[in-house]
Amino acid sequence: MADPTPTPTSNAETTPSPDPRDNLRIYLEANNPTLTRLNALRKTGWQNPTLSHTFSTHRLLSTSPTSSTKDTFYHMMLSIGLAMHTRTWLFAALARRPNTDTPPSPPAILDLGMAPGGFSGAALAKHPDVLIRGVSLPVSAGGHEIRIPAWETNPNISIRFADVTMLAADMDISPFEIPASHPDHGKFLHERVFPSETFDIVFCGAQVSRDQTRAAYREGREHFRLRTSQLVLAMQRLRQGGSLVVLLGRADSWETAVFLRGIDAFSKSLELFKGEGAHAKRSTFYAVAQGVDVEGEAARAQVEAWKAWWRVCTLGSEQECEEMWRVGEEEVEELIEGFGRRLLHLAAPVWKTQADALGRVLEKDEVSGIEKGWRGKGGRGAWRRKNGWV
Ligand SMILES: C[S@@+](CC[C@H](N)C(=O)[O-])C[C@H]1O[C@@H](n2cnc3c(N)ncnc32)[C@H](O)[C@@H]1O
Repeated sequence: MADPTPTPTSNAETTPSPDPRDNLRIYLEANNPTLTRLNALRKTGWQNPTLSHTFSTHRLLSTSPTSSTKDTFYHMMLSIGLAMHTRTWLFAALARRPNTDTPPSPPAILDLGMAPGGFSGAALAKHPDVLIRGVSLPVSAGGHEIRIPAWETNPNISIRFADVTMLAADMDISPFEIPASHPDHGKFLHERVFPSETFDIVFCGAQVSRDQTRAAYREGREHFRLRTSQLVLAMQRLRQGGSLVVLLGRADSWETAVFLRGIDAFSKSLELFKGEGAHAKRSTFYAVAQGVDVEGEAARAQVEAWKAWWRVCTLGSEQECEEMWRVGEEEVEELIEGFGRRLLHLAAPVWKTQADALGRVLEKDEVSGIEKGWRGKGGRGAWRRKNGWV
């Protein structure tokens, strides 16, 4: 697909904004009408009872799931994994891996935020001999159960139940750097996870858990700590030329754009994937990077930056963490100039999928409202008049 030709936006053309980061969204909306439609739908959606219901159902799934909802969740993730493969040929990396080891080593994946294990299940369905290593929040700390059938007795599967945001050793933080007064002082992990292994694919699929009890300093920055810690670990364990899958949200936000620009700089190919099913209405999507040059200078510099961001948001004050994300107009202009066109190209299918899905839900709600209303007092005409349809 050819890149759309972007409409240039200068500050003179845009509404003056107190936060320079808004200029990115203004630029993207000016160049993609679907995004404008999507943002309008999002606004309407939050007021809409059907969508609120959809979101609360999702919440139910993640806070008090029954055995059958746990399986539903697993199968949903499994089918998203298989659909991602159909679109991107992700699991081909397991077959075409260069294997110079003697004896040859089997293909391997690292699954961060693994539970319930749908992506790993999808990899197993395609390559039953794949080695699986996972890191996932323990159930006792608010995590999900692993639902891959008979995983406990499968010698190819090994899971570390831990909080992936607390891997001090993998972030190059020594125990002496953590002050005794730190609210999480005793919770950091001072040994590396799966230190001597390399992987063909790494999934960074953890999402902030609503059920985890966290120290107050983490609220508001947890998604950011989660993203940086997973990416650092992923890049330190991925083999040269391997594939990286990262869960992200809102491709029109400054933060996501910065992450995407970083990943794009060291990957041979990058695609954004959003499933058509249950996830279509939400703002999340997966960045699928293939041919990742983990040894190159771009990757090295980016990993150092991610480590520094994690460190500030874990050991620094609230002010220091906020300061890190303060950007000036020039920085935003620079991103728009260097990456804006590419971002429009990458994100267009994600915005379209979400806009179409939200559009369908809102339409259905209107239709079901009409049907219910017709049966009420006064019939079809009264309902239509009351609801402003005539
Ligand atoms: C959307 S689910 C991932 C689904 C998974 N990709 C699959 O294919 O089944 C998000 C997962 O991230 C985990 N998680 C959340 N916070 C975490 C943390 N700090 N460390 C490790 N895992 C975490 C959750 O417990 C949950 O299992």
